[in-house]
Amino acid sequence: MSKAENIVILTGAGISAESGIDTFRDSGGLWEQHRVEDVATPEGFARDPDLVQRFYDARRAAVQTVDPNAAHEALARLDREWPGELLIVTQNVDDLHERAGAKRVLHMHGELLSALCARCEARHRWNEKLVDRPPCPGCGETALRPDVVWFGEMPYEMDRIYAALRDADIFASIGTSGAVYPAAGFVRDARELGAHTVELNLERSGGSHWFDEARQGPAGQLVPEWVDELLAGISPDQA
Ligand code: OAD
Repeated sequence: MSKAENIVILTGAGISAESGIDTFRDSGGLWEQHRVEDVATPEGFARDPDLVQRFYDARRAAVQTVDPNAAHEALARLDREWPGELLIVTQNVDDLHERAGAKRVLHMHGELLSALCARCEARHRWNEKLVDRPPCPGCGETALRPDVVWFGEMPYEMDRIYAALRDADIFASIGTSGAVYPAAGFVRDARELGAHTVELNLERSGGSHWFDEARQGPAGQLVPEWVDELLAGISPDQA
């Protein structure tokens, strides 16, 4: 009996673009409208907490008005039907993978629909504003901040991610520019450890040359095609 292959999928803002969520570095993206050091660093938060809370409050409200697209749906189908290990590591702070039905999802840069207490470090599901400084449901302190990883902070669950990369037979990167580490380095790690690496992105990224295969086009088209190929390739003794 042959063993089913293990898949690790890294997703970025490009997979949610067709749902109507702004990416960061594309023309008109979030980092053209806001300075990273103002809204995505601990120093920026210390300087002007209201500005930062308003920025994430607006994004938290916006994410609740959009829907998953065909790319999220296709990955949820792969998660349901793939017989081997599978992990979707997303840099996205939206919940569109989960709303499409994916279960094996890890948010390495945190989540908009979560609040982190800077005092007791508890994480709470959150879909309201934070700028009004509501108390932490755990300790009562008015110390809640967006549960989003800022530049200079450690992404979540790196041990689990590297363990999955060590066992990966296939590594896919979808809708990410590969500009931010450590995620940008996963392709090299996976490749050195023997995985087949594939990039699905609107255009070639700065790191495309690291991949065995790079396909260009909108995620809403490329991802369903890729998932169909993978599922069609499952042999009967793996299913
Ligand atoms: P970027 O904005 O850097 O890159 C988005 C990528 O998606 C680009 O390469 C686009 O070409 C591609 N893209 C755009 N529309 C697409 C579509 N419809 N289909 C497929 N691809 C498309 O976003 P990320 O790579 O996710 O971190 O950014 C990484 C991190 O940088 C984010 O998690 C965030 C940001 O600063 C933090 O805030 C810590």
